[in-house]
Amino acid sequence: MIRFEDVGLRYPAPGQAAGPEVLRDIDFTLPDGAFRWLLGPSGAGKSSLLRLMYLAVRPSRGRIFVLGTEVASARRAALPRLRRRIGVVFQDFRLLRHLSAFDNVALPLRLAGRPEGQVRADVTEMLRWVGLARKTEAAPDALSGGEQQRVAIARAVITRPSLLLADEPTGNLDDVQAERLMQLFKEMNRLGTTVIVATHNDQLVYRHPAPSLRLENGRLTGSA
Ligand SMILES: Nc1ncnc2c1ncn2[C@@H]1O[C@H](COP(=O)(O)OP(=O)(O)O)[C@@H](O)[C@H]1O
Ligand SMILES: [Mg+2]
Repeated sequence: MIRFEDVGLRYPAPGQAAGPEVLRDIDFTLPDGAFRWLLGPSGAGKSSLLRLMYLAVRPSRGRIFVLGTEVASARRAALPRLRRRIGVVFQDFRLLRHLSAFDNVALPLRLAGRPEGQVRADVTEMLRWVGLARKTEAAPDALSGGEQQRVAIARAVITRPSLLLADEPTGNLDDVQAERLMQLFKEMNRLGTTVIVATHNDQLVYRHPAPSLRLENGRLTGSA
């Protein structure tokens, strides 16, 4: 379950205690296994809302429950464990430049202590699925934007997270790749993962009707 109770977010501002609220009065509940589009114009607060969900920033007010845990009152030791159950596709990919595509995708599995044989098999299959079977040894800098985005997607889903957050994951993909990505996300959702996808891709939303969270100027204007 994900629940936001009257949440507000301010970022620190230079020379001030805090800047203006970029998210205001955010209030919603998503059941486990939900699929939601996260919609709204640029600057509306989509990335900020996702950052709150993957515990990268703390709310300035209100309460947040992620996967059933109230974040502010959780024991410190519980947060890294919670974080490991969340897969994130960052808008700017955040691949490790000194690691190959393969090792970027393998990293979360290795951190989780999975046996290397299983890591090999899972990563190879996932990179094949996203169409990168022949780029496994390439460094991120040697990959196109779309290829880097697909590595980032593979890394986010490889651990089969309980919660998958994707920030404009089709920004660098063509239509065929975007459709393939949606198959992947929908299959994970079918298997129980809660999926939230921030997007500007109206065609994709049109082709895959699902309830949405809609932000405008830091406020939730629609939730269905
Ligand atoms: N790290 C930050 N520090 C200060 N302000 C930020 C930061 N990140 C985003 N903002 C501001 O928060 C608002 C929402 O931004 P963002 O969450 O990136 O929106 P979206 O993802 O919908 O484009 C914008 O006004 C943006 O300038
Ligand atoms: Mg954004």
